[in-house]
Amino acid sequence: MSDNDKKETHKRKLRSSAWFAPMDRNGFASRSWMKNQGLPDHMFDGRPVIGICNTASELTPCNAHFDKIAEHVKRGVFEMGGFPLEFPVTSLGETLMRPTTMLFRNLASMDVEESIRANPIDGVILLTGCDKTTPALVMGAASCDLPTLVVSGGPMLNGKFRGEDIGSGTNLWKFSEDVRADKMTLDDFIAAESCMSRSAGHCMTMGTASTMACMVEALGIALPGNAAIPAVDSRRYVLAHMAGRRICEMVGEDLKLSQILTRPAFENAIRVNGAIGGSTNAVVHLLAIAGRIGVDLDLEDWDRLGRDIPCLVNLMPSGKYLMEDFYYAGGLPMVMKEMGAHLDKTALTVSGKTVGENIETAECFDRDVIHPADRPFKNQGGIVVLKGNLAPRGAVLKPSAATKKLMQHEGRAVVFEDIDDFNARIDDPELDVEPDDILVLKNCGPKGYPGFPEAGGMAMPPKILAQGVTDMVRISDARMSGTAYGTVVLHTSPEAADGGALAHVRNGDRIILDVAGRRLHLDVDEAELAARAKDWRPPERPIRRGWYQLYHDHVLQADQGADLDFLVGGSGAPVPRKNH
Ligand code: FES
Repeated sequence: MSDNDKKETHKRKLRSSAWFAPMDRNGFASRSWMKNQGLPDHMFDGRPVIGICNTASELTPCNAHFDKIAEHVKRGVFEMGGFPLEFPVTSLGETLMRPTTMLFRNLASMDVEESIRANPIDGVILLTGCDKTTPALVMGAASCDLPTLVVSGGPMLNGKFRGEDIGSGTNLWKFSEDVRADKMTLDDFIAAESCMSRSAGHCMTMGTASTMACMVEALGIALPGNAAIPAVDSRRYVLAHMAGRRICEMVGEDLKLSQILTRPAFENAIRVNGAIGGSTNAVVHLLAIAGRIGVDLDLEDWDRLGRDIPCLVNLMPSGKYLMEDFYYAGGLPMVMKEMGAHLDKTALTVSGKTVGENIETAECFDRDVIHPADRPFKNQGGIVVLKGNLAPRGAVLKPSAATKKLMQHEGRAVVFEDIDDFNARIDDPELDVEPDDILVLKNCGPKGYPGFPEAGGMAMPPKILAQGVTDMVRISDARMSGTAYGTVVLHTSPEAADGGALAHVRNGDRIILDVAGRRLHLDVDEAELAARAKDWRPPERPIRRGWYQLYHDHVLQADQGADLDFLVGGSGAPVPRKNH
């Protein structure tokens, strides 16, 4: 055995030792260039290397404060004798990226996966916030399956506008409708902008970012309390610090993501999504994460598991409070405690404890924010999965955000061929539309648009709003912002741009929505639909190269999580060949 080999055998067999332990040309290169950052020799003595996967970007305002969170994670890692190394990955900012961040979720997940696998990392902290950053990072990490812990960036403080609490997104949609209905001036509309987003953090409604922060906590891959602590609350930094400590222990225990992300963990998360009135976007993201980690989960699970779950949380868009109030009321641990037997309390979490142990000391401090199980905020939480000839592989609806009387409805289709058609005609006073009609929007699925945008919460026609009508049935193959509301059927699968039945709906067709019967039916006979299908041509695509091309050729439909077909599953984190 050579001297070098002897030195290597004395090192702990952590993954990073393949880079930093060898006393040869490669080891020299791995250590020497790192030392230009002012690192002493002992940082390479075999201590666990913790990658901090950072999505900070000034183009992603919800994550712009993450460098400070990373600093607090590092304190915890150093305290435990670990070696923290921060690395950037693609950041997905919901408000600026066009045509939609969802087009790039899978791209970011590839960046995360390959960044982790290619580097000397033993455990990972994922810094997530704005909507797609959470699923993208978890998907990428799941395909590597190292010890992994999520730290969310936290929600913004409550919006405050002229004495009222206002919520990200939810009030934007409301104010925008008010301007269109002449109930709000444009000056007031502009004045509300800075009042809505007045601190660091992500949307503070129970939109997709907050929902996904709750999902990672419910899945057990974030520490208890992760979801609700406001971004600027000092306790957010304490949580980051503790996460830094804990990930070092997890490396020592070799507690991998796959040991936490089990089938019971996903079942818990689906039920929690019902109890919080969470975003429909969680459906697509959890299906994709399950696919990466090898858990058998399908769209039907969402209906079956969430069916009996009442909504306990009175937060916008379904209710009136915001994430700051949710934190002060007791946050997600209290909701999970209230859910009682609906959860598998034996599921293991990154804290090293079970779900049951994590939540046993939770307390509620405001019963108007977190309702007791015997007096729920809304009887039906969860996500309804609809099927029928208009969505043979399924579509989803969020009952807690819908109008009760519209959940059993038959109406005449008013069809928009794509988003440009919709934008060109929806405000037209001559538009042939009545309150009982059903708005249908095509070509906004994963391949349409392209990228599966949040176009499904279609704005209402002004001539309908002027009649004092605030909701109509709307159907599309799009997603919807988690901050939006209405009787909105989403994710019809297969999508129109893939030749799904939605592509063949015409103005005046009758559509039946039967939420109780889980049915979505286009009342046109089969021969006529077959004739229409013969004439169908896919929509034009704006770009036919690069990522757009790869995405189009490989994206799966909504009912499969809209991942790329070749990304499903994982490759673990074996140490790749030497680079020199
Ligand atoms: Fe980033 Fe809502 S825009 S979370």
